[in-house]
Amino acid sequence: MLAREIREIDRENPPERIERISPFVEFSYRKALDSLNVHASTARASLVHARITIVSTVLLGMFLLAGFSSLSLRKIKSLEAVINDRERVLEEWARSWQETFDSISDMVAVVDRDYNIVTTNRAMKKHFGGISSCRELCRMLGLSHVSNKDLCDYGGASEWVEFSGKTYSVRTYRREGKGGCIVVIRDITRERDLEERAFQSEKLASIGQMTATIAHEIKNPLTAVMGYSEMLMQRAMDDPTKAIIDKLHSAALRMERIINELLAFSRKPKLNRVKTDLNELIDNAIDMVSEALSVHGINIIREYSDLPVLNIDRGLIEQVFINILSNAIQAIADSGRGDTVRIVTHRRADRVVVELSDNGPGISAEDRKRIFEPFFTTKPAGKGTGLGLSLCYNFVTAHRGSISVRSEVGRGTTFVIEFPGPSEQGD
Ligand SMILES: Nc1ncnc2c1ncn2[C@@H]1O[C@H](COP(=O)(O)OP(=O)(O)OP(=O)(O)O)[C@@H](O)[C@H]1O
Ligand SMILES: [Mg+2]
Repeated sequence: MLAREIREIDRENPPERIERISPFVEFSYRKALDSLNVHASTARASLVHARITIVSTVLLGMFLLAGFSSLSLRKIKSLEAVINDRERVLEEWARSWQETFDSISDMVAVVDRDYNIVTTNRAMKKHFGGISSCRELCRMLGLSHVSNKDLCDYGGASEWVEFSGKTYSVRTYRREGKGGCIVVIRDITRERDLEERAFQSEKLASIGQMTATIAHEIKNPLTAVMGYSEMLMQRAMDDPTKAIIDKLHSAALRMERIINELLAFSRKPKLNRVKTDLNELIDNAIDMVSEALSVHGINIIREYSDLPVLNIDRGLIEQVFINILSNAIQAIADSGRGDTVRIVTHRRADRVVVELSDNGPGISAEDRKRIFEPFFTTKPAGKGTGLGLSLCYNFVTAHRGSISVRSEVGRGTTFVIEFPGPSEQGD
């Protein structure tokens, strides 16, 4: 094919013609070659340019990308640091809030608008565990009659509740904004004790004055009744008359005993102080009632601590322990409830404390307010005059001590007696 075409060209272009046109051909060829070269170099230049552009663009892109990435990384890192800082601050704040919340000795519960308990402090957890609703809390406080709404609507008003032998006030505060309320339960046993004691001593002081006057007024005519009845008893007379005079005389004797007790209550007793080991004195008092203890099968538990020697009136303080033990024995025997009397002695700061507890029937809140009043008794006539505890009160306070009672119906009673220690007694 190519040979044929060459032949064709050779035929159409004889050598002379070729010779004639060859310079032109050569010229054209050169021109074409030059132009081709120019184009080629332009193309090469363009290619190089394009390559440079691409490479630089890619490099720039990479550079920008790298720059951008490092910028973003740095930004992310700094954001992370800010978030971490904030988180730390929040954690720190939450921890310090919880610590503050937990260090409140009152029991606190936060209640939401649906009456669920959302959080409680340590004191609340200790008493009520993982309590979760307002209803449950009311039930545990013995406030089942109070509705959730009423509890949250107290708005700061207080309700007294008693459990585990202690008295608590319940207050609620409405939560602004979120709804619900905050319940605060405070142990007010000590305040109530102090209030009651202040009230008692005021009341007893006025009763004491009145009693002293009455006792004094009765004592004179009573002395006459006793004297004349004794005189009559010595005279010869028939048996029925003698029996009547005997009864008269023994009634007068009983009245005299009561009057003397009343006077002992109303007067500040004159103390005959001697150095005394209180634990030993309590043992003496136990001996005095040991017969009754064994008749009723009551156990005595003694938990004594080492005590300093006290300068006290042995007779009067022994009488205090005998009265309290006798009451416990009678309460256990009469109710058929309980079998143990526990006596604990210890020191609190510079004071000496004696706690006498029984697991008998307990004393109602109503009666508890009155037991130190003279003539307050729940015993049938002839079995108790109601002077025992009022005398105890008088004898203990005469030593600048204090006597108080804690009791829960069905669980028992504890009398707490405190005496000033040696330094307060000036020994
Ligand atoms: N341990 C106790 N358990 C239950 N009730 C008690 C206890 N101690 C005292 N009481 C109550 O307190 C009341 C008053 O006691 P208090 O000793 O003053 O008088 P009393 O025992 O009734 O009579 P008295 O002691 O003059 O013979 C008692 O009647 C009783 O109701
Ligand atoms: Mg008594």
